[in-house]
Amino acid sequence: MTALHEPIAPIVNELDLKAFRETLGCFATGVAIVTTASTDRRPVGLTISSFNSVSMAPPLILWSLSLDSPSLSAFRDQDCFTVNILSADQADLARHFAKPQDDKFENVNWNWGPTGTPLLDECSAVMQCRSYRRYEGGDHEIFLGEVIGLNMTGRPGLVFSRGKFCRAEQAV
Ligand SMILES: Cc1cc2nc3c(=O)[nH]c(=O)nc-3n(C[C@H](O)[C@H](O)[C@H](O)COP(=O)(O)O)c2cc1C
Repeated sequence: MTALHEPIAPIVNELDLKAFRETLGCFATGVAIVTTASTDRRPVGLTISSFNSVSMAPPLILWSLSLDSPSLSAFRDQDCFTVNILSADQADLARHFAKPQDDKFENVNWNWGPTGTPLLDECSAVMQCRSYRRYEGGDHEIFLGEVIGLNMTGRPGLVFSRGKFCRAEQAV
């Protein structure tokens, strides 16, 4: 076993990047689909696990988006986005929104919300956000959002851990 205080090698080669990814995967997260609209009012969305809380006053959250994502310009251009926090029964929806496609919203149950961003049905919770700040983050862009609307359904959340979708809420 490697002691935590041993010198830390820089992550340089492909093998180390694989270990970096796998190590990150040990941190179990929730799963969300973050949504907005393109400038020509088409719904835009993708699956994320980088969502986290930041601040209570003001109420801020963050997530990060790959600079390679075709959705990047929509999230940069719009004032608002919505974080649809997925429920345990929505693993297939998470997989669907993690694949690049022309119209991801076809055959999906959703509605336009009051901020002009898509709200997905049957989620665990929904947070409507106003874009607050954007930061450079290597090969991702970090989005900070100010939460301006909330809804919780009471459905248990979906968890992503070590590359697998799992059900939350088993107390230990
Ligand atoms: C569980 C899970 C979590 C993900 N988290 C992120 C994330 O936080 N940020 C990101 O840019 N992509 C993330 N992805 C990958 C995107 O969902 C995927 O690249 C998707 O195709 C992006 O949509 P787009 O091609 O329409 O931009 C994640 C995928 C999965 C399955």
